[in-house]
Amino acid sequence: MRSLRKTVLLAILVSVVLVLALLHSWPTRAYTTVDVWQRTGPIAERHLEERLLEPDHRLGNIPFRVRESVASLLARNGCVCEGESGGVNLPFAQLLFPRVSAHPLHTAFEASELEEMKRRRAKEYKSFQKRSQTPADVLIIAEANNPLQYPTQGVEIRPLKTIIIPGLALHDLPRDHFSINITATLGTLNVAAEVDGVKIKGDGEMHMTLSSSLLLSLNRQLQFVTYTNTLFHPSTADTVQFETEGHQATFSIKIRHGVTPKLYNTGSKGEYNVSALVTIATKTFLRYDKLQDLIDSVRRYYPTVTIVIADDSENPKSIAGPYIEHYIMPFGKGWFAGRNLAVSQVTTKYVLWVDDDFIFTANTKLEKLVDVLERTTLDLVGGAVREATGYTATYRQTISIEPGEEDGDCLHMRRGFHHAIQGFPNCVVTDGVINFFLARTDKVQQVGFDPRLARVAHLEFFIDGLGSLHVGSCDDVIVNHATKIKLPWVSQSESDKTYAKFRYPPASSDATHTKNGLLFFKNRFQCLTHN
Ligand SMILES: *[C@@H]1O[C@H](CO)[C@@H](O)[C@H](O)[C@H]1NC(C)=O
Ligand SMILES: *[C@@H]1O[C@H](CO)[C@@H](O)[C@H](O)[C@H]1NC(C)=O
Repeated sequence: MRSLRKTVLLAILVSVVLVLALLHSWPTRAYTTVDVWQRTGPIAERHLEERLLEPDHRLGNIPFRVRESVASLLARNGCVCEGESGGVNLPFAQLLFPRVSAHPLHTAFEASELEEMKRRRAKEYKSFQKRSQTPADVLIIAEANNPLQYPTQGVEIRPLKTIIIPGLALHDLPRDHFSINITATLGTLNVAAEVDGVKIKGDGEMHMTLSSSLLLSLNRQLQFVTYTNTLFHPSTADTVQFETEGHQATFSIKIRHGVTPKLYNTGSKGEYNVSALVTIATKTFLRYDKLQDLIDSVRRYYPTVTIVIADDSENPKSIAGPYIEHYIMPFGKGWFAGRNLAVSQVTTKYVLWVDDDFIFTANTKLEKLVDVLERTTLDLVGGAVREATGYTATYRQTISIEPGEEDGDCLHMRRGFHHAIQGFPNCVVTDGVINFFLARTDKVQQVGFDPRLARVAHLEFFIDGLGSLHVGSCDDVIVNHATKIKLPWVSQSESDKTYAKFRYPPASSDATHTKNGLLFFKNRFQCLTHN
């Protein structure tokens, strides 16, 4: 009986302690609810557009002459892919006189499913646009003769923090009373100090009015106006309206976290230590003899550089040795999946991509490529590949996208480059390069290699990276390509035959369909031209 009472007492005591502990740890902070649903931007946007489109009727009657040479450079409504016709049809003609050919991409889908594909693509694209655009992308025009002074760009705030809005002022107007309204949409306005003779209304709210009969006092007060972001978003912008009687101005405040740097410790200064700076990444499939030749050739020049190998062979063989990492993948996962895996494991500042049938020579000076990336703003720099015939290729490509309407954009790829690079006479700026390149590891990881591209793919990586990768190409860093010339009297080895079957499928195959399907849906292109 006594022990039962003791147990009950103990149980009550424990419960009381637990309840107290719970109450103590209960969050006392009240959380506001935010709306992060995807929908059209703030009302301000429509408001701005309306003001933009108010035409001055007197201008309509003034005639003008179109300057065709310049007007033709402007973007058209919609785009088309046009190939070049005619020309000679000789062997090597395409090599010597490259002609532009055009390809529609909707052919990747059956006619019966095409409409449905277009509908789904349009839906995904709309949502992409909402996610990728901020109010800072909206066109804002400053009106003529506006007495309002305000910052046109460069005002930035960290989410949920407070800043002084710089540069606000009102210029002299023939008035005896001055009044200013400031309106924000994602935060509140206030003043960090008060000036005598100025009336403040709405401080701590989204709409604040400052008024005074003394212009100087009002301008002094405007120096203390603060903005506090109240609606968290990691990267957006607030469009602030700034107005006085008869005049209106609009400017944007960028709201965003700083970009977290990813820095690599590259060792002591002096000559570049390639082992500390570079990891060599490659993908292999069946060709172990070629891979071994590559490793042996690398070791002759760079004995301690790490080599990362992604391997999706059916019966993987062991590749062992110092500074080698061999990653075995499920059979036939494919080309870009392997590139992705290999690149994901790199821990050095730079990654060098090589094919498994390349051979390093005395001309494969990685220090030169490192030097280009260390001293320029480029993210990726390609080298040159020498074939057994002596022909050396850099495979430089420029890529441009011409905006289209509902059918999608037009993708144009051309051999060539944009500029030579000052101080590096062998290097140029371009958009796409050959399978032999050195790149900033974090940038390549950001762009990524789409693992859906299993077999034939290369430029797709540069298409995905357009707008984020700054690409160069140098022709004085050369790697050799193990012979690819097929002599009719030499029979191919079994592994070479299997390899060829996977790597070079016929043009009408599923692989080409997948590729065109991705360009059509994922990248929203309607067609492509190339030479
Ligand atoms: C300022 O805002 C108030 C409403 O809060 C409005 O009545 C007034 O007309 C506005 N003044 C200017 C100069 O736009
Ligand atoms: C180069 O880097 C490697 C790997 O970080 C290191 O082991 C080696 O000592 C470095 N060599 C020199 C000369 O600094």
